[in-house]
Amino acid sequence: MSDKAVVQGQTNSAWGGRFQESTDAFVAEFTASVGFDKRLAKEDITGSLAHAKMLVKQGILTNEEGALIAQGLAEIMQEIEAGRFEWSVALEDVHMNVEKRLTDKIGEAGKKLHTGRSRNDQVATDIRLFMRGAIDEVLKEIKRLQGGIVDLAEREYATIMPGFTHLQVAQPITFGYHLLAWYEMLARDVGRFVDCRARLNVSPLGAAALAGTTFAIDREFSAQELGFSGVCENSLDAVSDRDFAIEFCAAAAIVLMHLSRFSEELILWNSAAFGFVDLPDRFCTGSSIMPQKKNPDVPELVRGKTGRVYGHLFALLTLMKSQPLAYNKDNQEDKEPLFDTLDTLLHCLRAFADMMPALKANKDNMLRAAAKGFSTATDLADYLVRKGVAFRDAHEIVGRSVRLAIEAQCDLSELALEQLQAVSTAIEADVYEYLTLEGSVNARNHRGGTAPQQVLARAQALKAKLRA
Ligand code: ARG
Repeated sequence: MSDKAVVQGQTNSAWGGRFQESTDAFVAEFTASVGFDKRLAKEDITGSLAHAKMLVKQGILTNEEGALIAQGLAEIMQEIEAGRFEWSVALEDVHMNVEKRLTDKIGEAGKKLHTGRSRNDQVATDIRLFMRGAIDEVLKEIKRLQGGIVDLAEREYATIMPGFTHLQVAQPITFGYHLLAWYEMLARDVGRFVDCRARLNVSPLGAAALAGTTFAIDREFSAQELGFSGVCENSLDAVSDRDFAIEFCAAAAIVLMHLSRFSEELILWNSAAFGFVDLPDRFCTGSSIMPQKKNPDVPELVRGKTGRVYGHLFALLTLMKSQPLAYNKDNQEDKEPLFDTLDTLLHCLRAFADMMPALKANKDNMLRAAAKGFSTATDLADYLVRKGVAFRDAHEIVGRSVRLAIEAQCDLSELALEQLQAVSTAIEADVYEYLTLEGSVNARNHRGGTAPQQVLARAQALKAKLRA
């Protein structure tokens, strides 16, 4: 290390006491987190206010010191919000930037704020507070998207489209029904975030560096001040684990997986080959060479961003996996993946929630596609079973009817009664009621089935639930 690389006078005043030389300039940059953890400033100040209030209540700080700290922190918050705060890399992170500014402002009392606390429990508290707010935002956006899905499902409850397995036409369903499948996926996503929030909502404050503190603190008090539902029971665990961040990223990765599947369907449906939906122009872009193109960029980008969020989940899992207890500097690396996961998730949810009300279904194309591919073949088999034929035999009979229709280049419902009866004498004139697309969807009239009546009832019930 050359002398030149040493920033004179840059040894951190918060911990410089035992050091004989200043921090290397590159090392100072390398180890600093203020560039990104300043995003936690509001939570850092909120946490400090609660900590100071607790210290006063316990007689560890005087009322006057407490009042000075509260006043100073409030001013700092204003400076930060107004963009007037000068962040310093030499002060390493958000915690020491705020504390130094406080001491500059109020003197001795500022130096006492850190009594009975460490940056280790401080940062763990900040992240948990931040994530509570983040999850609330995510939940709001998922619910907005669910609202759009339910509205569209209510409008399109009887619109017939092909249901697919293996991307082959399988059975007719309604578009509203397909949309409500998306709703259910998101409902489970909501549950995952609600669980994650409840689990992380406990206070690490008082854990201090790793073993607790020698001061007579009141952890329940500061926890309550901060709206936590309880306190972390073990201080080693409180300062070292970031499983809640991993859990958040896992829940986010699952949402993105869902959004990626929705994207894929929108991209397919918006293609000329399918023509099931029209994405509004304002969510698409053109091609610089092919004038006819209208590209579904928004869903494509959401599909693409899924990989990025999976990456963050793996970054955090890997970050955590080999760390011995308790806090290690590795944990500083939790923030950027976490923040980017949140931002990406919110953007993708927003794009979908904005897009949903403007999605237009091309009913004719959907109907035409459902009529292709013998989508009512199962209905014919079920019909035969009701006429007393065993299901396996019915399957065989329908297979032969399908072959007949392929040869005649028509749909099952277009075969003459004599043609069908040549395959099975169990078939009677009433068969046509079951071979139409409407007959097929209407027949699946039970909870969770695709009958328009079921879809409408479910959409209306969900609408009421979302409003509540
Ligand atoms: N900037 C640090 C982080 O994000 C704060 C905690 C630092 N603690 C320590 N013992 N170095 O993790």
